[in-house]
Amino acid sequence: DGDVYKYYADGEWRASASGKSVAIVNPTTRKTQYRVQACTQEEVNKVMEAAKVAQKAWARTPLWKRAELLHKAAAILKEHKAPIAECLVKEIAKPAKDAISEVVRSGDLVSYTAEEGVRILGEGKLLVSDSFPGNERNKYCLSSKIPLGVVLAIPPFNYPVNLAVSKIGPALIAGNSLVLKPPTQGAVAALHMVHCFHLAGFPKGLISCVTGKGSEIGDFLTMHPGVNCISFTGGDTGIAISKKAGMVPLQMELGGKDACIVLEDADLDLVAANIVKGGFSYSGQRCTAVKVVLIMESIADAVVEKVNAKLAKLKVGPPEDDCDITPVVTESSANFIEGLVMDAKEKGATFCQEYRREGNLIWPLLLDHVRPDMRIAWEEPFGPILPVIRINSVEEGIHHCNASNFGLQGCVFTRDINKAILISDAMETGTVQINSAPARGPDHFPFQGLKDSGIGSQGITNSINMMTKVKSTVINLP
Ligand code: G3H
Repeated sequence: DGDVYKYYADGEWRASASGKSVAIVNPTTRKTQYRVQACTQEEVNKVMEAAKVAQKAWARTPLWKRAELLHKAAAILKEHKAPIAECLVKEIAKPAKDAISEVVRSGDLVSYTAEEGVRILGEGKLLVSDSFPGNERNKYCLSSKIPLGVVLAIPPFNYPVNLAVSKIGPALIAGNSLVLKPPTQGAVAALHMVHCFHLAGFPKGLISCVTGKGSEIGDFLTMHPGVNCISFTGGDTGIAISKKAGMVPLQMELGGKDACIVLEDADLDLVAANIVKGGFSYSGQRCTAVKVVLIMESIADAVVEKVNAKLAKLKVGPPEDDCDITPVVTESSANFIEGLVMDAKEKGATFCQEYRREGNLIWPLLLDHVRPDMRIAWEEPFGPILPVIRINSVEEGIHHCNASNFGLQGCVFTRDINKAILISDAMETGTVQINSAPARGPDHFPFQGLKDSGIGSQGITNSINMMTKVKSTVINLP
């Protein structure tokens, strides 16, 4: 209706002085759904200044009070799950039910963060000097965790609410202030989520949310001298950010090419169910999606058949109807996926289904007999397309997994727990799931990528720790 959603700064909703806006295109209708402010660099400067001032007072706010406000925000977020989920449906074509789960999961994450924070930040350490050679017991070192300052949070389009609060919660409980730059697709859902924090009554300037074009404010934000920590989830941009960022702690979760290694003794029904869930939920637009199946030749036909039977039952269509497969986020993403499909076709992959696309909607497709010379063997489609590579030994599977430049998660299916552990040890990924598809949750589990998949570890506890620094005071006795 021509309205432009305001950005959030200094505790209020503002229109940008730029007079410009950024359009958010609904992936299903491919028409402009919403508009957000195109913030200027000057506005970013003001937000950074306010964040710095607010943080000083917040760091002195008792831990229990910080936790209380977070619990309040979590409850408000859950109360508003319907309108926020509706934005997720319109902006990123997330299936209706999954959109609701994302908001509920986010509320739970914030509550858990508040509880975890009061415990781990409520503890310090005392060291005595005489354990180190040459010292008497005349020095007492008291150390505790202090905030970093201003945390810049940049979540991706696929979880604009959940991957925002997984940064906001830990930052705030630890005494930091927070500047959020939401993804364009998902910005309105993120603004609604920020409003829940506003309603909870956090101090002015402590949380802000700037929207706009990456070309105008992207580098400006990540290279801003006022930023003391960057928590980013997304694609290759993260690699560019880490090259340009200053001397600040970085938490990066970038892409993945999660492998699913299937051994001959696996429960094949369990395998098929997890391949479909892992590879195709949210149309494969998850960093932890199963992105390549490495399966022993002797059981490959049976598993492919079971997976195909399940794929035939998936509902394909609009997110409003709670379809399983919904339009991918942008036309350029659909074009990229199509490029991978065409490359596989030219190079002789077996198409288990006919390739079908209407606008941004791509029907689920399993590509069998994929070989390493095909792009789909290595690249991340972020769409409902899954390659199967047949292997003749477990070593071959591990080798393919480790030859990837990514190393987020992976999974192995076998009834032999000893083999599973050995394979897990051999896989160069941040997490290996035994007999289940990769997933980030439960959200207090450590979550990290090796190689190009990231820097640092996430999960609630690790994120809180990452957003703090150790501070020591040493008492010297005469
Ligand atoms: O897209 C990246 C997310 O961190 C994956 O989260 O495993 O809960 O879908 P998920």
